Amino acid sequence: MATEHTLSIIKPDATKRNLTGKINAKFEDAGLRIVAQKRIQLTKAQAGEFYKVHAERPFYDELCEFMASGPVVVQVLEGDGAIAKNREVMGATNPADADAGTIRAEFSESVGENSVHGSDAPETAREEIAYFFSGLEIVG
Ligand code: TYD
Repeated sequence: MATEHTLSIIKPDATKRNLTGKINAKFEDAGLRIVAQKRIQLTKAQAGEFYKVHAERPFYDELCEFMASGPVVVQVLEGDGAIAKNREVMGATNPADADAGTIRAEFSESVGENSVHGSDAPETAREEIAYFFSGLEIVG
C-alpha cells in the first residue's frame, strides 16, 4: 500500500481532558507517524470554513461552536494507507457505535464531541492539510 498523508485533529473535548498524549499513542502504536503538529485556537469562522461541506446539516452551528470552544491539536499523520488506518484507529463517528479499543470508544462522550477528526479521502486530505500547514512544516 502507498505511503499517504492525512489530516488529524484532536478536538477541544479531548485537549480539555488532557488526552492528547493518550490519543497520539494510539496513532503511533498503529504505525502512523506524526510528521507535523501544532496546538491552535480556532475561531468559529475558521471552524466553519473547515467544515463547510456540512453547512446545510442541522448540527453545523453547534459543531462550529464546539470546534472553537477550546484548543485543538492539528497534525499530519504519515503511513501506509494512512487515511483509512487513521479512521480505523478513530472508530465510528458516534462513539456508541465505535469498536472496542478505538479512540472514540475509549475516550469520547457523544457524537457531537467525538475527540478526533480524520480526513476521509485523498483529495480531502490534501485540502485539509493545506488549510493548516505549509509544505515546510511537514517533516517526515
Ligand atoms: P462526519 O464527517 O459525518 O463524521 P467523521 O468525523 O467521522 O468524519 O461528521 C463530521 C462531524 O460532525 C462529526 O465528527 C461530529 C459532527 N456530527 C454531529 O455533531 N452530529 C451528527 O449527527 C453527525 C453525523 C456528525
